[in-house]
Amino acid sequence: MTKKLFIKTYGCQMNVYDSERMAEALGGQGYVETATPEDADMILLNTCHIREKAAEKVYSELGRLKPLKELNPELKIGVAGCVAQAEGEEIMRRQPAVDLVVGPQTYHRLPEMEARVRSGLPALDTDFPAEDKFDHLKGRPKARRAPAAFLTVQEGCDKFCAFCVVPYTRGAEVSRPAARVLEEARDLVERGVREVTLLGQNVNAYHGGMTLAGLIRELARIDGLERIRYTTSHPNDMGDDLIAAHAEVEELMPYLHLPVQSGSDRILKRMNRSHTAESYLQLIERIRVARPDIVLSGDFIVGFPEETDADFEATMELVRQVRYGYAFSFKYSSRPGTPAAERPGVDPDVADDRLQRLQALITEHQREIQDSMVGREMDVLVEKPGRNPGQMIGKSPYLHSVHIEGGTAAVGDIARVRILDAKTNSLGGVQV
Ligand code: SAH
Ligand code: SF4
Ligand code: F3S
Repeated sequence: MTKKLFIKTYGCQMNVYDSERMAEALGGQGYVETATPEDADMILLNTCHIREKAAEKVYSELGRLKPLKELNPELKIGVAGCVAQAEGEEIMRRQPAVDLVVGPQTYHRLPEMEARVRSGLPALDTDFPAEDKFDHLKGRPKARRAPAAFLTVQEGCDKFCAFCVVPYTRGAEVSRPAARVLEEARDLVERGVREVTLLGQNVNAYHGGMTLAGLIRELARIDGLERIRYTTSHPNDMGDDLIAAHAEVEELMPYLHLPVQSGSDRILKRMNRSHTAESYLQLIERIRVARPDIVLSGDFIVGFPEETDADFEATMELVRQVRYGYAFSFKYSSRPGTPAAERPGVDPDVADDRLQRLQALITEHQREIQDSMVGREMDVLVEKPGRNPGQMIGKSPYLHSVHIEGGTAAVGDIARVRILDAKTNSLGGVQV
């Protein structure tokens, strides 16, 4: 009998990838996915622990879902991902409607856990097992896929930035063997994928028998795989061979997410980032020499403990020098168990004000870069039909969303598009 599975995903792209894998793992148990929690027999929340708000959302969502159990006594509720890893059993104590808790490294055991909750027992698994979960996700359905897919190649982190929970929720840095990654990429291409984004918390530290640059060069040789991206990178792992790949590998897209967090050396040191603002700027310079049209994005934290006005101004200055095409900026959130959690925070109003100023500056640059695309022709990977008749939506090499009018392009095609207008978050154009 088919049962219905509803998965809600929070957090980063790795969670998106993991949710797909969990759906496949439970597919073997007769589950098909549903888009609505109301008709589900199993609900999984794949959670994020990175900031307090992200983690608290999970409990309010669980509170909303709980009444569904009265309508469907067969309904089981599970919490997966980084909150599951960080809080474990505590989740079931705080919300007794939860039947199952599974961490990011053990979801290949979901089929056994599902059987256990069906028999009325709770199931909890937040191990860091020696075996590779990906090796245990066999017999996946060969379903057709959307043209752009994520592919996890590296997980975990050994960097221990003073603010960050990832080394605790995802564990130590581990790379998947290159042969496995290539096998999965070939399988994706057979299923209709044209673009892969290689994922890792420190993806450029990849060392699965070759460097990330080596892996990218191997992937570029796969027929039908037209585009390669990777995220997230750490400035200290940006090797010369990876920079060279940006100059030489046509399939490697001209877009790089390279978080710096702050432009103040004093704060970077307290964050345990082990790079300076200057070394980051020099790195950006070298990358731009290799690939002059590259669009950069970054992550920033404002209001880190002891951040002064002068420290914040240094961040603004760094942003002015780099001119990001996109950037994500966050107010510092104190996370239990991290070294920075012990330190006194910045006044929340001051932090709010800094965040607004930083975001305004980033938006200004983003807008300028978007505007500079108008009049240019570029290749767009067509991903789905748009809202208007004949309109398609795709992605530019620089990761812009592009609305294509009046063309003949089908999903999965790479269309040549002349850009006619720019908004803050998307471009519009016609197929040529
Ligand atoms: N591995 C990536 C980022 C992982 S988390 C890297 O090293 O760049 C994604 C982003 O969340 C981080 O880059 C950081 O900007 C932000 N972040 C992490 N911990 C945070 C915290 N405690 N408070 C606010 N933002 C945080
Ligand atoms: Fe977190 Fe730093 Fe590791 Fe990135 S490098 S995941 S910010 S500890
Ligand atoms: Fe969040 Fe875990 Fe990703 S904490 S950002 S879901 S690695």
